[in-house]
Amino acid sequence: MSTNAMNPMSGTPMISRTESRVRELEDKNAEALRGGGPERVSKHKEGDRLTARERLDVLLDPGSFVEMDRFVTHRSSNFGMGDKKILGDGVITGYGRINGKLVYAYSQDFTVFGGSMSRTQANKIIKIMDMAMKVGAPIIGLNDSGGARIQEGVEALAGYSDIFLRNTLASGVVPQISAIMGPCAGGAVYSPSITDFIFMVKDTSYMFVTGPDVIKTVTHEDVTKEQLGGALAHAQKSGVTHFATDDDKHCLLMIRELLNFLPSNNVDDPPVLPTADRPDRVEEALNTFIPDNPKKPYDMKELVKMIVDEGYFLEVHQHYAKNVIVGFSRFNGRAVGIVANQPQILAGCLNIDASKKAARFVRFCDAFNIPLVTLVDVPGFLPGTDQEWNGIITHGAKLLYAYAEATVPKITVITRKDYGGAYCVMSSKHLRGDVNLAYPTAEIAVMGADGAVNIIFRDAIKKASDQAAEKARLTADYERKFANPYVAAENGFIDEVIEPALTRKRIIDALEMLKNKKDTNPLRKHGNIPL
Ligand code: HXC
Repeated sequence: MSTNAMNPMSGTPMISRTESRVRELEDKNAEALRGGGPERVSKHKEGDRLTARERLDVLLDPGSFVEMDRFVTHRSSNFGMGDKKILGDGVITGYGRINGKLVYAYSQDFTVFGGSMSRTQANKIIKIMDMAMKVGAPIIGLNDSGGARIQEGVEALAGYSDIFLRNTLASGVVPQISAIMGPCAGGAVYSPSITDFIFMVKDTSYMFVTGPDVIKTVTHEDVTKEQLGGALAHAQKSGVTHFATDDDKHCLLMIRELLNFLPSNNVDDPPVLPTADRPDRVEEALNTFIPDNPKKPYDMKELVKMIVDEGYFLEVHQHYAKNVIVGFSRFNGRAVGIVANQPQILAGCLNIDASKKAARFVRFCDAFNIPLVTLVDVPGFLPGTDQEWNGIITHGAKLLYAYAEATVPKITVITRKDYGGAYCVMSSKHLRGDVNLAYPTAEIAVMGADGAVNIIFRDAIKKASDQAAEKARLTADYERKFANPYVAAENGFIDEVIEPALTRKRIIDALEMLKNKKDTNPLRKHGNIPL
């Protein structure tokens, strides 16, 4: 019951000093929650877009978000900005939980100065980044911004640069995830691109260094924002984004999904989730899965789904360089990174894009203690002037380097072709593969029999009376000698030739055996990966 005295003039109860202070706080909180005001908020919400706060609500476990710096305002007085201060200054920052795990997050509010980056907005973001580094927890950035706050000039650029520095220092220490949920243009793109994974929202987000107008002036090309830097452009053409999602909600739920596979930092282990899928499940269908004809393609993704826990595979870079597949799954509850050639696309050859895609994924997994399972069916590197002149030598070497330096458990299963340089690259024994398995259908050689015979028996074939018959005889002979896993197994480069039905069991055996694996690289400032 209120014990306040009555105001004799108004007849209403007088409020105490403390109560008035609390009300002041409530008013300030309400003001901060209004963001850029109802008009801008309703314009922003056209389509399926959520507000910056709603996005955090979907991203984080209910009720777990704790906001910091809600009352921060900018310090600029240029161009009349001194009169325009909005609490929070266009970004909401703080910490919360995803499936119980601590994360730090920021969400730019487009309704406040177009979410643009001011000095103070940057200060808010770097405050949580610094904390995430000290505590060892992932950082998630929800980007929706017109870029550097134009009224602040170099101070805004300084803010961006401070964020880039922290993105770089946090790389490989805590997972960093970026969602692009609106514009992201100019130098602003470089923060997300240093982070580990980028999610974009179809139709409402775009990323580019220079926009359509500048392009029109400089190169006379006509291109829309969506064509230039929309989610599909970056998912399919550039590979800048790892995930193209349908709408805000889908994007945020996918981030939660990804987080389930990741440890909080580089000294933690990835989470182990209980599974009803038996570790010794025998998948009989695999014994007849690989086609008899080595030239016939098959879907490696089907094979992946047959062996992993409950058939669940979270594919990364699904639309880019489809000749290699990368993503996360679990074996007996343990998270792994899967890298697999896809014989359905370009016969599974490695090209520039596939090498870059797989190399970055391998390095991510290695940085965060996620074991690698590599499924191999690769006829070699893709030939052609386009590939050579664009540097397949350098880019292919990235994948080689990534596998060679990786010290996490590395398990390799060769299902069919494993030829030439690609044999060396794809997590071979020679690059510190821990357990290298092969199906009886594996063909491990310098090249396919056809090509090999053409080179080493060119003269013999020319001299033969029946050239076709002689070539067929020599090819069959070569296949018998080399198109099998046994020469590699005799050398100990393959640890076991397995019945395909046992693939899941053998991978789980290997992961269990390697649980406490420790391996190191020589001490150095850093290596010099061929960039
Ligand atoms: C200050 C900005 C802003 C910015 C938008 N606003 N971008 N204010 N600095 N960079 C403000 C607008 O003035 C407007 O304020 C409100 O946000 C909403 O913007 P609109 O233009 O009305 O929205 P929309 O039509 O949806 O267009 C969105 C947009 C456009 C395409 C992003 O705002 C735009 O082109 N902005 C400028 C983009 C840009 O060139 N940024 C600099 C990039 S270079 P009012 O008060 O009218 O509602 C860069 C360098 C970074 O960022 C370098 C890092 C190293």
